[in-house]
Amino acid sequence: MSSEWGFETRQIHVGGEPDPTTGARAVPIYQTTSYQFRNSEHASNLFALAEIGNIYTRIMNPTQLALEQRINSLEGGCTTAVGLPGTLVVGSGQAAATIGILTLAQAGDHIVASPSLYGGTYNLLHYTFPKMGIEVTFVDDPHDLEQWRSAIRPNTKLFFGEVLANPKNDVFDIEGVSAVGHENGIPLMVDNTVPTPYLIRPLEWGADIVVHSLTKFAGGHGTSIGGSITDGGTFDYAASGRFPNFTEPDPSYHGLAYFPALGHGAYIIKARVQILRDLGSAIAPFNSFLILQGLETLSLRMERHFANAAKVVEYLQTRSEVVSINWAGLPSSPWHERATKYGAGKGYGSVLAFEIAGGKPAGQKFADSLVLHSHVANIGDVRSLVIHPASTTHSQLSDDEQISSGVTPGLVRLSVGLESIEDIIADLEAGFAAIA
Ligand SMILES: Cc1ncc(COP(=O)(O)O)c(C=O)c1O
Repeated sequence: MSSEWGFETRQIHVGGEPDPTTGARAVPIYQTTSYQFRNSEHASNLFALAEIGNIYTRIMNPTQLALEQRINSLEGGCTTAVGLPGTLVVGSGQAAATIGILTLAQAGDHIVASPSLYGGTYNLLHYTFPKMGIEVTFVDDPHDLEQWRSAIRPNTKLFFGEVLANPKNDVFDIEGVSAVGHENGIPLMVDNTVPTPYLIRPLEWGADIVVHSLTKFAGGHGTSIGGSITDGGTFDYAASGRFPNFTEPDPSYHGLAYFPALGHGAYIIKARVQILRDLGSAIAPFNSFLILQGLETLSLRMERHFANAAKVVEYLQTRSEVVSINWAGLPSSPWHERATKYGAGKGYGSVLAFEIAGGKPAGQKFADSLVLHSHVANIGDVRSLVIHPASTTHSQLSDDEQISSGVTPGLVRLSVGLESIEDIIADLEAGFAAIA
């Protein structure tokens, strides 16, 4: 990286090449809060975005930047006009959705969303944003494009969905929903946590912005919370006519009008220099480092996750206690064809769910009886995980809300890990024996 970046970002060997000064191959952990300015002119240029470089770790850090460059490359994000990648990494997946949305919408605005979402995102949209003056309409059926179209209002700023949602395992219609959005000047943001860009690259199918919980498959080892926002850089915030917060001067950033001044990629710069600056949910450098270690093996891990998930489903189909299975890899799944198209048949995800005969007590007992599977509220770990959603992750939802998000009383969710498949199946077998 050129010298105007200062020593802090010098050659963080993003492509995997050794550091030219030290020969180190791993990305260093820049455990620092702030960065020495060369002089007052340098400092003022950095603040004015006339020169890009590190000021303060709440907004930018070299270890974080290495992670941003890799996520950006995996998702196919843009390169911004100021040379930063089109990806911003933040403190959690929840922070990514919050910052990602608040970069577009403010009090008085409106969002249209799929109800097939992670429970935390559903709560954010259903309860917290309305308290901040942002209204959210959930379409009843996210696969019916007319419902998206008819939910649009003059103040609608965003369509939001999850690419492969659990526990329903439905696959979002990225092409269809983005087309309806674009006809009306509305960008589409999708959460791509579960497929990961190894399987699906939503920007290639029409999405404008991709968010992730890096806590899951990207980090992969259950050690670190993190999130990311990637800007495809193709949405035209001026032509849309819906975004005066991009096209008019921002008094909180000395009168900067982000678009078109910062070109395509203005969205992700605004997310960093305005919303992350003010909300402060930065990622710790050490967590960036750990997530970078995870990313090194993403493709290998995902292959094994997918292969093990397919074998678990094969086994579940032999069990009389299993009433139904949610997994897009089953030819009988309504989303099988779309999943095959978007993922080129490389896999169908590894967070699957099944309904067990005997309802809630059977579901809870099954989860309690597993030994190899960790009983945790997480997904995307190298270890196999189990949970009974109705009494845990989705317990704060009403009965109707549970049903609309696909959570039935006897539903058991698995996040199939990387252990040997014989051990995973032996553990499931013990669970079925316990409820017999
Ligand atoms: C699909 C999805 N998106 C977002 C989140 C939130 O991420 P985090 O826990 O990193 O805040 C989660 C967490 O479970 C998730 O599963």
